[in-house]
Parts: sequence; C-alpha cells; structure tokens
Amino acid sequence: MNAELSVFSQFEGQGNDNALSTRDPILSRNSSSPVGLTTRCQFLPSDFELNPSSMCMKKTSIIVIGNSKGGVGKTVTAINLAGAFALMGKKVLVVDTDFQGSATEHLKVLEQAQEQNLSLSKAITNDLTLDQVRLSSQIDGIDVIAGDIELITVRDRMAAEPHNHLLIEGVLDCNALSEYDIVIIDTHPDWNCLLVSALKYAHYFIVPLFAEKGSVSGLVTFLESVQSKVRRRLNPSLHFLGCVVTNYLKKNRTHQHFFQLLLQMGEEHGFPVLTPPIPYSDRVKSAEASQVPTMHLSTSVASKAYKTLASILLPELKGRRQGRPDAANIETLRSAVNGFELEANEF
Ligand SMILES: Nc1ncnc2c1ncn2[C@@H]1O[C@H](COP(=O)(O)OP(=O)(O)O)[C@@H](O)[C@H]1O
Ligand SMILES: [Mg+2]
Repeated sequence: MNAELSVFSQFEGQGNDNALSTRDPILSRNSSSPVGLTTRCQFLPSDFELNPSSMCMKKTSIIVIGNSKGGVGKTVTAINLAGAFALMGKKVLVVDTDFQGSATEHLKVLEQAQEQNLSLSKAITNDLTLDQVRLSSQIDGIDVIAGDIELITVRDRMAAEPHNHLLIEGVLDCNALSEYDIVIIDTHPDWNCLLVSALKYAHYFIVPLFAEKGSVSGLVTFLESVQSKVRRRLNPSLHFLGCVVTNYLKKNRTHQHFFQLLLQMGEEHGFPVLTPPIPYSDRVKSAEASQVPTMHLSTSVASKAYKTLASILLPELKGRRQGRPDAANIETLRSAVNGFELEANEF
C-alpha cells in the first residue's frame, strides 16, 4: 500500500463536512440572481466568498475523469462514482464533455436534452451557465449537463481561440455551482480544448485504466500532458486523486500481476493507485443498458467496489487544495513504462 493510500484508509468511513458554505470564486455570473448580491468578504482568505443570499453554500469539489486512451472505463467510473456519492446523500452534477454523449445516455437524459435543446455545446455557443442548461436525471441527487455531437463543432471552432481554456469555467462559474457537493466531468480521450478547460477549472482528476497492455502508456501520456500543459501554468493546484483499475478479473493472473506492477510503479514514481480495483461484472453492462448507475440496478461486485472507492475518496474532497501538489516523477515514469509493458506481457 503506498503512502497516499494509507492516508486514505485512515479516513475511511468518515463523512465530508461541507457545512461551511464556500466555493471557488473568480467572476460571479448568475443569471438567476441580481448582480451585486455576491460580495467578497475581506476577513476570509482570498479564494473564499460569501453569498448573503445563500448562507448554506457548500464547498464544491470538481473531479475530471480522464485518460488518453478510449475504452478504459472513464464513463463507467464517472457514472458509478456519481451514483455512489448520490447514495451517500451528496448532490452531484455530471458534466459530459464527450461528443459521444455516453454519460448523457447512461443517465437517461439524452431525449430530454434533445427535446429541450439543452446541452454543454449549447451553453458554450450561447454563453449560458449551468443553471440554464442542467437537466435532472431520474437518479435522486444527480443532475447532468449533456454532451452531444455538436461538441465536435465547438471543439474545432474554439481550437485556436486564445481563451479556450476557460470554456468549462464559463459554464460552471455561477451561484448554482454551490448547490453541488461534487461535480464529475467525463471526458473524451483526445487532448482538446474542452478537456484542457475542464482540467483548468477542476480541483482533482482520476485516471481509470484496464489491466492490460497499452493502458499504462495511456496513463503516462495523460499525466505528461496534465503536468506540462495544465499544472505548469493553468492550474498548479490540480490534484491527482489516483488511477483506478477497472474491468478487473480477480482470478486472472495477468490482471493480478498488472495490478501489483502498477502499485509498485505508483510507489516508485510518486502517483497513487486507488484500491479496490473495480472487478469485471456483467451487471455493469446491464446497468448501462438500463441507463442507471450499477448500484441503482442491483448489488454486484462492481457496485460494491465503486461504493467503497467513493467512501474512500469522499473525505479527500475538500474543494480546491492550497499549494502546489507533488507531481509524479513523469520523466522516470516514461522510461519505466517500456519495462512495465514487457514484464506485464510475460504473463
Ligand atoms: N467493471 C466493469 N465490468 C464490465 N464491463 C466494464 C467494466 N468497466 C468498464 N466496462 C466496459 O468497458 C467498456 C468501456 O468502458 P467506458 O466507460 O465506456 O470507457 P471509456 O469511457 O473510457 O471509453 C464499456 O463497454 C463498459 O461496459
Ligand atoms: Mg466514455
């Protein structure tokens, strides 16, 4: 168990105290509140603000789920962490920045989004905020900003815009954000301006991966990009919660070996590997087909693992962390990957 994981386990089972009503500031744009209601309070630290109209504001934690590889469990992890946090009584917003709209479909809001013409692409194109485009899902405690195919146009049109790293902030930065305990942002594997703007505004990120060849290079490519293109200038306090192995077959020796190597690599190169790995389960696919998080369909090994993961992560979620987080040693990590893949392949 690496150092970060032991810290996690010390906190396991404790609740997240969100009683203090704060959120990340910048500009306060809120179409539903009169301008000027939000004021900065001089005796609070500079990145706290108090809104007299809502003395019960929560500290919102924003988590990006990303990996430079597709088909590694990003969407399944986003939906099931959202489901687990919602069952723990947390109010969750899922933002689907993937033009494939898988998270939107998985939460059964695609039709609603199309009927009401409300989506992330619409928000960016028309300069709308969260309160104007969010949709209620059928799961208690989960709202959604829908992803759709129009995000391709947005991505391409905004690619050369100088302020395209502010796209997600432009949508989320309004008073309505403080209604949520947790925002989970599902992403497409391409490194594009939507992903960068999500990482720019987020407090945390998680990298899901399968226990198979190619997964670790996807992880390392993602970490390299986060380090050089986001943390260095745009968001130095972006905190890596860890990578999580999904679709894991406990009895498969290759998977076991992969997981052990990954834990070892995490310890040697300074990145956290979250436990438990999420087991393979047919119920994950059934839940996708039924358009609900796994734990809302039935109890399964995967739903239990996601619930455990959520309870381990929850005490770690405290909005924006102060200071610069320790970076994984990316340079040494890249060279270690080749050896890792060779060794993993021997099984
Ligand atoms: N724990 C799991 N058990 C069974 N199937 C899984 C599990 N995790 C992911 N999958 C399957 O893997 C595929 C890819 O997952 P997905 O979350 O869509 O990946 P990504 O969003 O990274 O492209 C999906 O078909 C999903 O059903
Ligand atoms: Mg996906």
